[in-house]
This record gives sequence, C-alpha cells and structure tokens, in this order.
Amino acid sequence: MTEILSPPPVTRADHVISIRNLSKSFGQLEVLKDISLDVDAGEVVCVIGPSGSGKSTLLRCVNLLETPTSGQIFVGTDEVTDPDVEIDLVRRGIGMVFQSFNLFPHLTVLQNLTVTQRKVLKRSKSESVAVARRNLDRVGMSHKEDAYPAQLSGGQQQRVAIARALSKDPTLMLFDEPTSALDPELVGDVLAVMKSLAADGMTMLVVTHEMAFAREVADRVVFMDGGYIVEQGAPGDVIGQPKEERTRSFLHRVLNPLVIETDELDG
Ligand SMILES: Nc1ncnc2c1ncn2[C@@H]1O[C@H](COP(=O)(O)OP(=O)(O)O)[C@@H](O)[C@H]1O
Ligand SMILES: [Mg+2]
Repeated sequence: MTEILSPPPVTRADHVISIRNLSKSFGQLEVLKDISLDVDAGEVVCVIGPSGSGKSTLLRCVNLLETPTSGQIFVGTDEVTDPDVEIDLVRRGIGMVFQSFNLFPHLTVLQNLTVTQRKVLKRSKSESVAVARRNLDRVGMSHKEDAYPAQLSGGQQQRVAIARALSKDPTLMLFDEPTSALDPELVGDVLAVMKSLAADGMTMLVVTHEMAFAREVADRVVFMDGGYIVEQGAPGDVIGQPKEERTRSFLHRVLNPLVIETDELDG
C-alpha cells in the first residue's frame, strides 16, 4: 500500500513574517537591498552582521518604524506595506525590545507594564495588573513591581522591558541588540529570559552579537553585510562552518575581539 503524504497547503499565514524583495534607501544610501526572509511560527531567527549592515533598519521595517522603499512585508495575514494597513493594529501583535530599555522613568515597574494595556488595549485595571504580574513573574522581576526604573540594574530594566512587550500578548517578538548596552555580568540573565521565551514557543527575530546564544537558541542564523543577506542557515552551519568569506571574516573579528583592524577604530 502506498502512503500518500500530501504537503500542507502553503499560505502567507503559515509565516509569521514574510519579507519579499525588500529595499530601503535613506536618500541616496541604499541600506537594504532585495531582502527576502520568512520567519515561521515558533521559530527563533538570529540576525548577525557588522555595524551599519542594515540589521536595525530591517527590524524597524517590520513594524513600519521605517517605511520600505520597495518590496512587501507581511506579518501574519496583514500586509504591512499596504498603504491602507492599520499599522497600530498590526503593532499590537508585535513586541519590540531595543538596546536602550526605554522604560518610562516616572512610572513604577508595574505601571510601566499596565499603561499601554490600559490606554491602547483598553483593558480593565484588574486585568492589566494580572497580565503585568504574570509577565513580571516570567522574567523573574515580580519582587520589583513597585520600584522605579532608576532603582534597577540595566539587566533588570531590560527584563522589565521584555515583560512590558509580552503584556500585549504579541504573536511575535523583535529584539534589537537587547544585551549590547549591559554590563557583561548582566547579559546572562537577559539571555536566559529570551531562551525561556524561545522554549515556550515564541516567534522571535533577534539582532544580536551573542554568538553563543545564537548557536544555542536560534533555529536559523542570518548573516547580513552591506544591506544584503549574505548567507543563512542552521547556526552550526552559518556560525560553525560559514560558506562565505564575508561571514568568515566577520565571525573571526567577533570571536577574536583583541585583533582590532585599523578601519574599525572609528566605527
Ligand atoms: N534614519 C536614518 N537616516 C539616514 N541613514 C540611516 C538612518 N538609519 C540608518 N541609517 C544608515 O543605514 C545604514 C544601516 O543602519 P542600521 O540598520 O542601523 O545598521 P545596523 O543595525 O546593522 O548597525 C547605516 O549606514 C546607517 O548610518
Ligand atoms: Mg543596529
């Protein structure tokens, strides 16, 4: 008897993010060049690459913090690049975490997590507090709910920022170098939180220089240089045995930081 395995139907909704031939210029400077990339539900994709290669711009195009010059971006079934898109609605489903934590300094930790839920999602006070506490627990920050951001370490602030992003119940989390502003001893706590989110099945697009994290947690690693995706694949391939010379030389520099090349000194 022949077993018939029919593939599941492919629709755009199968991808949480679908980027098609995306280009972005700032004036004469083309910083993203014909980028195509899909991220599936539950996938963790890490984007690596040198400073100025377009990583942040790529992330910012996904929630339209930058307007693409050409190409298409879908988040779920919503086309972000459709001029008629209700971007506020799309953004509600996307949690974004930046290098700088961007907490409101005059609000407590708990208030930082409830304010958007109340104002944007129109949740009741009791619901928003319950959601906030659940997410503070998730990032190990429950004990600081009454603290102000300035009373917390950078790593604690970033964990609160992650909890705040999670409080929108996003289907997708974007991280732009979430640990780059942290003292080295605080990086691990934030990466541990991200690792647990990944284990819970969160879809994540993460720009990072943490190669050990990318190797361990990413399903796929994308190497960008000069506005292009130069290569992508399993972390063991892209980081472990890169095909492209540009990837090899980038990794060599990241993994051997004492070898400083003179053209990097002003970067
Ligand atoms: N708003 C902007 N206006 C002009 N140029 C920009 C702007 N944002 C980024 N760029 C330029 O685009 C290029 C890519 O930047 P970016 O996406 O921040 O790279 P990365 O995150 O990989 O360091 C850089 O040359 C940067 O100077
Ligand atoms: Mg950047």
